[in-house]
Amino acid sequence: MLNDRLAGHIALITGGGGEIGTAIALRYASEGASIAVADLEPSKAEETVRKVVEAGGKAVGLGVDVSDPESCAAAVAGAMEAFGKITTLVNVAATVTPDGTVETLSLEQWNKAIGVNLTGAFLMCKYAVPHMRAAGGGSIVNIASQLGHLGVQNRSPYCTTKAALIFFTRILAMDHAADNIRANSISPGFILTERSSKRVGGKDKARVINGPRHLLNRPGEPEEIAAGAAYLASSDASFVTGTDLLIDGGYVTFKGRVQPDGKTTML
Ligand SMILES: NC(=O)c1ccc[n+]([C@@H]2O[C@H](COP(=O)([O-])OP(=O)(O)OC[C@H]3O[C@@H](n4cnc5c(N)ncnc54)[C@H](O)[C@@H]3O)[C@@H](O)[C@H]2O)c1
Repeated sequence: MLNDRLAGHIALITGGGGEIGTAIALRYASEGASIAVADLEPSKAEETVRKVVEAGGKAVGLGVDVSDPESCAAAVAGAMEAFGKITTLVNVAATVTPDGTVETLSLEQWNKAIGVNLTGAFLMCKYAVPHMRAAGGGSIVNIASQLGHLGVQNRSPYCTTKAALIFFTRILAMDHAADNIRANSISPGFILTERSSKRVGGKDKARVINGPRHLLNRPGEPEEIAAGAAYLASSDASFVTGTDLLIDGGYVTFKGRVQPDGKTTML
């Protein structure tokens, strides 16, 4: 165990079968939390569970479609059945959103992005909050994006849902402060995962193309997001609520590129 900062915590993680979700599950377990790993693809959730258990942690796997209210209620019930309480909810699940403008995107594509990326967090909070209150409080961590801060052409479904998720989190923090529930979002920069790298043709290309967009001249790793998520779940963040934590290597700080000589040029 890394430390016991999250001992006694029960964390429900959606999108827990993905790369960032898996890193968060492993980090939480290494700090003593028990994990309910929920994902649209149950086999991916089970793979994360296998990794957590192999590392000496406790986890159960659940299937969930976060855009479906009944499925969200069932996932929360599943976590309760497995562990008897929920102290931490991490909304990581997001759908791969299509590129296009208002003229080329269909209403179905738009609604799907809203349904998974935004309504998904709403629904999971809706069903988990009563249990978190009953547990005496807890922490909600919503995974937003640097693209909820800086827009990208042709990606209104993604950018809009992530910007809205940041704002939703603020209101969530207001609504449930009296329940001792803290709510914060994390906005990652470009994190080297299969999903994000596919757009530019793989991880090697993504390093070269996306790395220089960050002041630190490299993409981030899922474990760097997990470290922030563990902080926000822990009592080290006991006075932190309603905030958005940029873990982005300086992506949002400047509109430019780092050149091979290490100097930055502004765009
Ligand atoms: N990788 C990056 O560069 C980056 C940057 C900023 C923000 N993010 C955010 O981080 C999160 C994780 O990204 P990742 O790169 O690990 O992606 P990923 O594709 O590896 O993980 C996403 C997971 O969500 C699951 N999922 C999709 N639709 C779902 C649904 N309807 N219900 C439940 N689960 C569903 C997928 O099966 C997958 O396991 C996402 O919210 C993403 O928007 C990623």
